[in-house]
Amino acid sequence: MEGTAHGKIILIGEHSVVYGHPAIAIPFNDSRIVCRLKPSETDVIVSSLYEGPLSDAPPLFQPIRKLIGKLKAAFEHGPCHYIIESDIPIGAGLGSSAAIAAAITSAVYKMNDRPLDSRTHYEWVQYSETLAHRNPSGIDALCVTSDHGWFFTKNKREPIEITISGSLVIAYSGETTPTSQSVAHVRKLTETSEDFQQIINGLGGLAFQAKDALVSKDINALGDAMNAAMEGLNALGLSTERIERLNHLAKRHGAIASKLTGGGMGGCVIALCASEKDAENVRDAWTKEENVRTWKINFREEA
Ligand code: MEV
Repeated sequence: MEGTAHGKIILIGEHSVVYGHPAIAIPFNDSRIVCRLKPSETDVIVSSLYEGPLSDAPPLFQPIRKLIGKLKAAFEHGPCHYIIESDIPIGAGLGSSAAIAAAITSAVYKMNDRPLDSRTHYEWVQYSETLAHRNPSGIDALCVTSDHGWFFTKNKREPIEITISGSLVIAYSGETTPTSQSVAHVRKLTETSEDFQQIINGLGGLAFQAKDALVSKDINALGDAMNAAMEGLNALGLSTERIERLNHLAKRHGAIASKLTGGGMGGCVIALCASEKDAENVRDAWTKEENVRTWKINFREEA
């Protein structure tokens, strides 16, 4: 039995979303996780990071271990091999932890011949995310369990489609930091000075600007909001030299905007481009000069 899930990309609003501000995120269908279940004598994880008994899995797998335990208790099914194949880089801001939980949950529901509605799917993933980083906003869990974008705040979610023509190029910096760490870092800053709280509020305002830009199909205004958000994220200490290099390179090769996506302190960078040609130029530059893995998403005026 098999369950699959895709990753997610936050266009704007990471971190400030934890404090009740909005964020905009879209599913990342080119980046997927598959979980296959095979009934067996004991619970075993088979993955590129760890292969062995579930009970001996390293701390990174603790949320998954608890999720599997809770699903087993809910369905009273027997032990399984959980074979996980992922092309979403771990700790890179693309929602890998949420997507693993989503793929496992989907596979377990299928094995038990039970329908899985999106609300229930979200709840299971959010349970696992809460174990992974205590106070997740829910945007990752929502985005990996749905097939459209969201204008998201903790207590209000509006579906959003990107109907602006342009492209988004994504690069994986090769540096990783667990989201729990970057979220704890920002929490500490906001507790030490009001200035950091102001930056968070500013990021919230930029997410509203980005939404207005999407509604009025103004790609330059969207880019302005994304660039300003990158400045805020940098001021929060979430950038790295590599991210800065990738941002500069993207803009030198025609991107309207370039910023980190997700928790930061490494992870992925996204570049907004007005045309496919600009996007290809950015992609080439990133590949040749920084030797990074890249992806591209094209937006159409009528999505
Ligand atoms: C992580 O993908 C996004 C953060 O805003 C954390 C969260 O929303 O829970 C950094």
